[in-house]
Amino acid sequence: MMALDKVFTAEGSPNIALIKYWGKRDERLILPCNSSLSITFDRKAMRTVTSVMFSKRLRKDIFYLDGKKQDLDDKDIKERFAIVEKMRRIAKTDARVAVVSQNYFPTASGLASSASGIATLVYVINKALVLGLSTKEMSIIARQGSGSASRSLLGGVVVWNKGKRHDGKDSFAQQLFKEDYWPELIDNIVVVSTGKKKVPSRAGMRATVNTNPLFKQRASSAQSRLAEIKKAFKAKDISKVAECTIADSNEMHALMLSTIPSIRYLNAASYAIMDAIEELNAMEGKTIAGYTFDAGPNANIITIRKYQGKVTRVLSQLEKRGMISYVKTSGLGEGPRMLPESRSLIKKSMLGR
Ligand code: DP6
Repeated sequence: MMALDKVFTAEGSPNIALIKYWGKRDERLILPCNSSLSITFDRKAMRTVTSVMFSKRLRKDIFYLDGKKQDLDDKDIKERFAIVEKMRRIAKTDARVAVVSQNYFPTASGLASSASGIATLVYVINKALVLGLSTKEMSIIARQGSGSASRSLLGGVVVWNKGKRHDGKDSFAQQLFKEDYWPELIDNIVVVSTGKKKVPSRAGMRATVNTNPLFKQRASSAQSRLAEIKKAFKAKDISKVAECTIADSNEMHALMLSTIPSIRYLNAASYAIMDAIEELNAMEGKTIAGYTFDAGPNANIITIRKYQGKVTRVLSQLEKRGMISYVKTSGLGEGPRMLPESRSLIKKSMLGR
């Protein structure tokens, strides 16, 4: 039996794709044109905490994000919040819900929080409504909120298989390696100075698929690179992992650039980071670090512990030149988990009664 008027709280974390998802074959169900691979961040570096309470006494749904009440009539929020309705239907309940979600990311980093937020929300609602969904089923629901969220239901190294079916039942994320698989692996989350508003990834992807003739070759290229990086992870070969990561990030950003009208997420600081990492690799005579960028100018630099000192040195030089604001490091992290009731984020004042 689901518990009404009881608060459930969970925490989860974002992921960074090394083989990128960019382009949908079905916009309504959020089905991607290619499979993608990501690593889930350690919650110690970045996490989202989300509390939910279902109640018949609430007149309407309430959603607070990072302390601010959200407008559930806003198109973007409404679209993503539809997964809550979906889960309510599975539970056969019409109880309204209060959702309070808080991102504990480096402040004002502008780092994508939707993956972490949606994955954590699906996870906590599964518990609150006692749906008993499997990770696969949760991943399928999260995917329909935001594609990259499908991958944050799992920890470690994760692959979101694109699937073939029209109904999307075979398009979900699976764990390739557990979070303790490669303790030496380090991701440097590099926050660059920025203020500019970016094109939302949803609109950006749509434009790429619709206008870019180069997009035709993306699926096969991503597919073969995915096979290559999987092998590299299996062999714990950081050079190969980093080379695939760099190549895939650049391929995606080249597709964005050649979309009509052109979409550009990288800025001068991003290019300075790319230059610096490539210079470092050249100096070492082998690839010891790889960079990747999502729909924004912030970088993720992956390496392993024995090279981390060199990466830090390079990054602190960029910091001195005012190119980057700060760096946070993360290893592979776990998927979402429940927190005790005492960690509730829901305050009486938010419930408006
Ligand atoms: C560049 O998952 O945010 O981060 O499915 O439209 O919500 P929607 O897009 P979203 O896109 C993520 C794009 C990316 C690459 C990636 O995470 O794979």
